[in-house]
Order: sequence, then structure tokens, then C-alpha cells
Amino acid sequence: MEVDKKEEIKSESSEPVVTPWEVSAKDGGKIDYDKLIDQFGCQRLDESMIDRVQRLTSRQPHVFLRRGVFFAHRDFNEILDAFEKGDKFYLYTGRGPSSEALHLGHLIPFMFTKYLQDAFKVPLVIQLTDDEKCIWKNISVEESKRLARENAKDIIACGFDVTKTFIFSDFNYIGGAFYENMVKVGKCVTLNKAMGIFGFSGEDYIGKLSFPPIQAVPSFPSSFPHLFPGKDNLRCLIPCAIDQDPYFRMTRDVAPRLGYSKPALIESTFFPALQGENGKMSASDPNSAIYVTDTAKDIKNKINRFAFSGGQDSVEKHRELGANLEVDIPVKYLSFFLEDDSELEHIKKEYGEGRMLTGDVKKRLTEVLTEMVERHRRARAAVTDEMVDAFMAVRPLPSMFE
Ligand code: TYM
Ligand code: TRP
Repeated sequence: MEVDKKEEIKSESSEPVVTPWEVSAKDGGKIDYDKLIDQFGCQRLDESMIDRVQRLTSRQPHVFLRRGVFFAHRDFNEILDAFEKGDKFYLYTGRGPSSEALHLGHLIPFMFTKYLQDAFKVPLVIQLTDDEKCIWKNISVEESKRLARENAKDIIACGFDVTKTFIFSDFNYIGGAFYENMVKVGKCVTLNKAMGIFGFSGEDYIGKLSFPPIQAVPSFPSSFPHLFPGKDNLRCLIPCAIDQDPYFRMTRDVAPRLGYSKPALIESTFFPALQGENGKMSASDPNSAIYVTDTAKDIKNKINRFAFSGGQDSVEKHRELGANLEVDIPVKYLSFFLEDDSELEHIKKEYGEGRMLTGDVKKRLTEVLTEMVERHRRARAAVTDEMVDAFMAVRPLPSMFE
């Protein structure tokens, strides 16, 4: 989610600031994800859990698991325990349609969710919070609804299975049992609490205060009577980046009081801006982001001009000292999207020891991203309005667990 300047929540401490509205490390440094785990009270996703995922799904864990992109969780172990005993769950994720085009950071939770859906064979609900963006941004209701449909096409292009996936727009879907759950959640959270969790102040529109229950209730199966009738105990797993954690801290806090299970979470780090790792790739700064609509030329130019390099200033110095991989964005991006583990290791070694130059690494990254974006573009072009209607139809999904 982009930061609206006046929304920024300023903090004087040395803790990283991560809210649904702002992501920034202190003093231009890197975001300290270990600190975030402590600050938020979530758990680290460790090797043994990843091995367990491999055993339970009989397939190699996704690169995002192997490389620590998804690094934190809440109760994911309970989801795996239940799954091992034969109990299924459902997935819930979402997108706030604030821009026409998604950037690569936005694709991360969806690529990962697609893997989870395939690996565990479970249903998925995707919330398009067109209402949220209308409240937070200067976007009309009509425009927000249009962006939601456009974004749905990008999401569908990630390859979700229509027999297991329900995509909904808040403006079109909210009502009935979903709304009843919103009201129940609203009765459990005081204004003081909401100010503490979300940083709301007296200057904020009341529309903002009314939003968190909307993002909370897709965590409860009873919000979807056409999907999960009589399955009130079905557990929910939410893949998202860690900026969304505040919403679900609130949700987990109220769930037991409503007699519902707490949703489990699996949370990712941020795909960083081209300029470096102190923030997340954000749609509000076009030079910080690579969009799924960028051409091969755009991608090449952005990488060459803006991708922060850990290489040395001169070739001689570089050969002597090697690159600082800790701050190098091309290597970081390759670690998200270059699937071949041995090629990645090779690049890190050669570049880190000065035999490979920044230009070589940027060239390889340009190839990898261009191919990925091209693939996405082709998939998106094949998504018709009828397909969008099919994913968004309020309907039962009889084969959702098969
Ligand atoms: P939105 O549209 O800002 O972001 C959609 C999803 O993408 C993640 N994300 C990123 N992940 C990695 N690197 C980045 N640079 C990056 N930027 C964004 C976000 O964490 C999110 O998972 N309010 C939500 C919509 C929503 C939602 C949910 C999200 C409703 N219900 C449940 C997750 C789970 C939003 O506006 O997301
Ligand atoms: N609130 C998110 C944003 O704008 C979008 C969102 C809605 C979401 N539901 C979600 C993200 C569920 C992850 C999971 O940033």
C-alpha cells in the first residue's frame, strides 16, 4: 500500500515502522525483520516447518519458502498439524486496488498463494478492498470498482483454479452474513484499541475507523455461506506481507470472543524498492518499482539506472574487494525470482569475490524479470471479462477440496 504523505505515522524510536500505510527502516538502514517478529509477537518460520511442508505436500517447497521470503507465521504449525490428521483449511488473501498496474511486490503473495492452493489442494477467497482505497485515496467509488476488476485480471493471470477460488469486491459482496460478522467484530474493538493498533487519530475520517472489521471477517468461514455452509470450524490461513499484520492481530484478538478460530498467518518480507532495502517497492514512486506492464526496455533501463549496486566504484577496486552482497539490489531480486539454486549460489560467489561485475549481474536480472513479466503479460491478455465474472460469481465450489 502506498503512503499518503499526511498518513505517515512518525515514530521516534529506533524500531522499524511497519504499518499497512508505512514501511520504513530507521536511518536509511535495512528493515530489521527479527526485530519486527519481536515487536509484533509473531513466530519465525524455521527449517523444520519448511521440511514438514515438503513432507506433507510431497513437492519441493516454493523458492519463497526455501529462501526465507516468507519468514514469519502465526499458528501455521496448527494448520499443518490439522492437515496431517486430514483436516483441510482455506486460504484468504487480498489486494487494495489503488493502481491500474501491479508491481512485482504485489505479485509475491499471489504467486505464493497459488503455490499453496496447488500444494495443499484447498479453496481460496481473495478480497478486493475497493472500499478501502476509496476511503484512503482520492479515488471515486466508480473508479475504485473499475480498478478492482482490472486488478482481478492480474490476479487471475497468476493461475488460480476457478473451481477453488472466489474473488470478491467489497462494494459488490458485503452484506448478509459477512456484514453480521463485521458488526460483531466492531462491537469488540474500542476506539482506544484501534488507535493503538492502527495509529488512527482524531483527524482521521470515520470511514477509516470502520474499515478494519471489513478486512478481518473473511478470516471467518461463516462470512461465506455459499462456500462453507456448516463448516464454521474450518481453519483459515492468510498469506500476506507483514505490513498487513495489524489487521490480523486485531482479528485474532477478537475471534475467541465470537466463538471463532483465530486465522493463521504466513508472512513475507517486502520486495524492496530498486533504490535499496530500507522500504518496500511502492506504486507511488514509479522509479522505485517495476510494474507488470513495463516493457522489456523499461525494465532494462530501470535496472541499469536505479538498481542499487553493492559493486565497487572502479573495476580495479571491484576485482580486489568484490561486491557487498548485503546491500546489492540485483542479487536481492535474483534471490526472489531466479529459481535455480545453484546458479544463484554461483552468481553470489563470483560477484562477491569480484570476478563478476555489476553489469553482468544486472544483465542476468534483466533477462529473468523480462521473461517473468512477459509471461505475466501473455497470461493477463488471455483473461476475458467472462473469466472475471466466473471467478467473482457468488456460487458454491463443490470440488474445492479435490
Ligand atoms: P495491497 O494492495 O497494498 O497489497 C496486496 C498484497 O501485497 C503485499 N505487498 C507486498 N509484498 C511484498 N513486497 C512488497 N513490496 C509489497 N507491497 C505489497 C501486501 O502485504 C498484500 O499482501 N488492505 C490490503 C488488502 C487486503 C488483504 C487482506 C491483504 C484485504 N484483506 C488479507 C492481505 C490479506 C491491501 O490494500 O493490500
Ligand atoms: N489492506 C491491504 C492493502 O491495501 C489489501 C488486503 C485486503 C489484503 N485483504 C487482504 C492483503 C488480505 C493481504 C491479505 O494493503
